[in-house]
Amino acid sequence: MAATGKSYLRKIDISDVEPGMVLEDVFNDEGVLLISSQVEVTSPGQIEVLKKRGVSAVYINIRDGVDVPIEKLKKQELLKREEEYYLELSRAKEVHQSTLEATKNTLHAVRTGRPFTAGEIEIAGEKIVSSILRNPDALLSLAQIKGYDEYTYVHSVNVGILLTSVAKAMQYNKNALLEVGIGGLLHDIGKMRIPEHILNKAGKYTEDEFNVMKRHPQLGIDILRYSRTITDVSRLIVYEHHERFNGKGYPRGITGSQISEAGVMAAVADVYDAMTTDRVYRPAWTPQRALATIFQGCDVEFPRRIVEFFTRHLGIYPVGSFVRLGTGELGVVVRVEKGKILAPDILVLYSPDGIRYSEPREYKLAELQTESNRKKYSIESSLNPKDFNVKISDYIQKSPFD
Ligand SMILES: [Fe+2]
Ligand SMILES: [Fe+2]
Repeated sequence: MAATGKSYLRKIDISDVEPGMVLEDVFNDEGVLLISSQVEVTSPGQIEVLKKRGVSAVYINIRDGVDVPIEKLKKQELLKREEEYYLELSRAKEVHQSTLEATKNTLHAVRTGRPFTAGEIEIAGEKIVSSILRNPDALLSLAQIKGYDEYTYVHSVNVGILLTSVAKAMQYNKNALLEVGIGGLLHDIGKMRIPEHILNKAGKYTEDEFNVMKRHPQLGIDILRYSRTITDVSRLIVYEHHERFNGKGYPRGITGSQISEAGVMAAVADVYDAMTTDRVYRPAWTPQRALATIFQGCDVEFPRRIVEFFTRHLGIYPVGSFVRLGTGELGVVVRVEKGKILAPDILVLYSPDGIRYSEPREYKLAELQTESNRKKYSIESSLNPKDFNVKISDYIQKSPFD
């Protein structure tokens, strides 16, 4: 029979799930997203865990009438991927650092009244694209490590990386990747024309102050007006990243398909990075809470199709998540293998009794999980690292290949 390649998602009752099936989006009954990427059910125990977490139904992907199996990789291939990731990670650190510098310089120049020049940002955009084309995960990991400072330039770099990386997953070509990357780096450039006492205000904005803040997309494209190299797609990111699907955004309040795809992608990346960063008025949310909240805004604030690319791409426990394992130990997610998003590599920091290990222990959950101890070596929940005095950035950059 000829394959049509047609696929669709089918909702099935949790009691009909069998080992071997590949699950797509899984929500619990409160609408919280538990799994947002393909995951293969390998044991009846996993189905029990989902039931306990309040899951009554799941979606499976049906293609040509059958369940789509995920890529099965040989051990050799997995090792190669791991090595490539860590190889790129050390290069990605340099890309990250130089992008932070370039973005800081460019924004600072505009802040001090100099005309905008695109050169440094364009070079940074090219470096981001090259890194992501060599390995899609390394630079993204670095963008997920949040410090305690919330500067516009750090946020801009995170959004630039996030956008390029999701656009890669959406099959954008090299040129288009560069356009969204540059747009991301520049998306808040208009803030450089907002008075600093408003921009850096710790408390809530008054209505007047918020009205001033809302001018930053327009101020942004004004700043870029005389540039001959910044493309329309990059400009749309600057202009539209606060528009919303339901028309409740700004500056124009346009709706649905009036907003460009790049504009929508930038809006999601912007919100995700803002939610997962510490603010003066609230601590950072875990990536899980941020993704679940964004998901709940599907077809209200953001179109579902784009949100799905983000949640699939970032996975449920992205690198940098701080988690509790079934063993009771606590650790940091340091690497996520595609297709094994529920069983990432963890650096374990705390014993089940809450005692900090003198040396972190490396757990590869996918390897440790066997039929009988799967639950023990699974992630139980995600936690806020600050409650445990853990600085995520101390652990992400460590590579066994260094
Ligand atoms: Fe903005
Ligand atoms: Fe922003």
